[in-house]
Amino acid sequence: MGEGQVDLVRVPEAQVKERIEVYGHESNRTAQAAVDSHERVSASGASAGNGQGDHVTMDLAGRNAVVVGASSGIGRAVAAELTALGARVGWCARRAALLEAGIAEAGRSGVPLTADITSDAGCAAMGASAATAFDSLDLVVVASGASGVRLLRDAEADYWERILLANVVGPSLVVRHLLDLLTPGAVVAMLSSESVGHPYPGLVPYAASKAALEELIREWRAEHPELRFSRVTVGTTSGTEFIRDFDPALSAELFNTWLSLGVIPQQSMVASEVGASIARTLGHALLVPGIDVQDIVLRSPGPAMSPSHA
Ligand SMILES: NC(=O)c1ccc[n+]([C@@H]2O[C@H](COP(=O)([O-])OP(=O)(O)OC[C@H]3O[C@@H](n4cnc5c(N)ncnc54)[C@H](OP(=O)(O)O)[C@@H]3O)[C@@H](O)[C@H]2O)c1
Repeated sequence: MGEGQVDLVRVPEAQVKERIEVYGHESNRTAQAAVDSHERVSASGASAGNGQGDHVTMDLAGRNAVVVGASSGIGRAVAAELTALGARVGWCARRAALLEAGIAEAGRSGVPLTADITSDAGCAAMGASAATAFDSLDLVVVASGASGVRLLRDAEADYWERILLANVVGPSLVVRHLLDLLTPGAVVAMLSSESVGHPYPGLVPYAASKAALEELIREWRAEHPELRFSRVTVGTTSGTEFIRDFDPALSAELFNTWLSLGVIPQQSMVASEVGASIARTLGHALLVPGIDVQDIVLRSPGPAMSPSHA
């Protein structure tokens, strides 16, 4: 073990847990500073924007959007920012109370669309509620997702099924059941991950599901050229529930491997800013129908953490 490397076997579990929480949550000092800056901007009357006092006007009044995964993390921030920009937003996820809280906080007439997107029945009910609330839709953002940490040798069919249903099948069913509401030129954006193509032991089912999601996006685009499909690749983002199903002990075991592979950035992005950036980029696409914004990549600036940072 080289100088500066940490032997996670010898690091007390509490300390390891803290490191992993720092990786995943807003307890990260850098992330907290960004959140503080975001709150200062919000308090000064601007929307979340770029977190640096962005006052650029974008008016999405008259536009209708559905955001899936709006009960937490990035999806919630996308829904809040679209609302702040004037769009009418359908907030979709399974936890109704969190959707209501988000809508109340966003301060305008959002529409709760409580649904589990992993079945046709769930998506059909969501589509029916959306059809009651909206004449048509200009934008759908699929920011839902399931994750977890498990080595391939231990990943049984049930585990794969949970991840693939949430990250591949569900997003396709969402589009299937909202198709009749989408206007020509409507934008359908789905959140992928920069883990695709970058080996990430323990997160392989998740990364494989996102690779499949990327193919799904390409194929929806080919079958429905009247719509605009966007792949939104996202890097490590704090202020979300992304790691809620992570096994802390296995994560601690794998942490040094992740550092060696350079998959953990020194500085993670924060959900409020990622969500606002996605909302504004897609909002701009709505205002410029002659451009197909096929790829959006959001990652934190700077290099990855190396074992010397542990
Ligand atoms: N955070 C990161 O570092 C990161 C990095 C790369 C990519 N991403 C991607 O970004 C997207 C947003 O992730 P996040 O970090 O914001 O995670 P998050 O806080 O866990 O949000 C996930 C959202 O998906 C919803 N959801 C999960 N399963 C669902 C289901 N079956 N039906 C309906 N809604 C469901 C959750 O709400 P309910 O539990 O209420 O249903 C929640 O609103 C995901 O696609 C994720 O893979 C995240």
